[in-house]
Amino acid sequence: MSTELGNEYIFNGRHVADVPRRLRALEESYDPGTVGRLERLGVGAGWHCLEVGTGAGSVTRWLSDRVGPAGRVLAADLDTSFFTGEGLDNVEVRQLDLRSERPPEGEFDLVHARLVLGHLPERDRVLDALVAALRPGGWLLVEEAEEFPFHGMGDGLHREVVLAALAAMETAGFTAKWGRKLPALFRARGLEDVSAVVEAPIVPGGSSGLEWLRLSIDQLIRGGHPIQVHGRGGYEQWRRKSEDPDTWLVSLPLVAAQGRAARR
Ligand SMILES: C[S@@+](CC[C@H](N)C(=O)[O-])C[C@H]1O[C@@H](n2cnc3c(N)ncnc32)[C@H](O)[C@@H]1O
Repeated sequence: MSTELGNEYIFNGRHVADVPRRLRALEESYDPGTVGRLERLGVGAGWHCLEVGTGAGSVTRWLSDRVGPAGRVLAADLDTSFFTGEGLDNVEVRQLDLRSERPPEGEFDLVHARLVLGHLPERDRVLDALVAALRPGGWLLVEEAEEFPFHGMGDGLHREVVLAALAAMETAGFTAKWGRKLPALFRARGLEDVSAVVEAPIVPGGSSGLEWLRLSIDQLIRGGHPIQVHGRGGYEQWRRKSEDPDTWLVSLPLVAAQGRAARR
């Protein structure tokens, strides 16, 4: 269903009951890479952090522990039902729709978003707001899905299923072709020390990296976005492969782009 703000978030909890498990599998899969990047940025005691699209909250929990009692973390999401921040004194959880609301400006040493902006057709405008939320010298880290590694993979059911799912998601306003643009978009907004990498996890069937992909595609189909798969055995054969520990497949690649606001 579309709204005047663009498309409804396709993985919202209204259609399906698997959302918490999908969010946790996503966290298990990408947290090691994200945490490594946050450590290298130097996130530490006393930092003020903004985590947008906090989901089930693992990154917010890590930030809360890292910044300690002198720091604080604002955890914002359209849907705050999967993370309440209970027991975390330095965390404020705020319901916020990035399509129409802006986070506080000029306040944060770190702004982080993972797998959020790709869902929002207003993503360029949202990026403006995230840059504006940085205090001088503050870091922005944005991690978004990117499909281009799949185009180099030749034929095969896995490539076909993932690209078909991403095409179905595009009709709902999602893109996996924006991550590659992030470094240029960061520079155009005046950020400094900009760099980016692509993380493309190669993981065995049954691992969280494939579980979250499978749960996402199942939810997509059940949410009314069918995917067209012509390869042998079709989607059911792919599901079996994604659970076979002897099969290694590429999970959804992420572009991780970072840059910092100029120090005045
Ligand atoms: C794929 S999940 C990623 C969750 C978390 N960032 C992670 O990587 O573990 C996308 C998150 O973005 C949130 N989201 C979607 N549309 C949003 C919007 N318009 N404003 C704020 N958050 C939104 C969803 O509720 C969900 O928690």
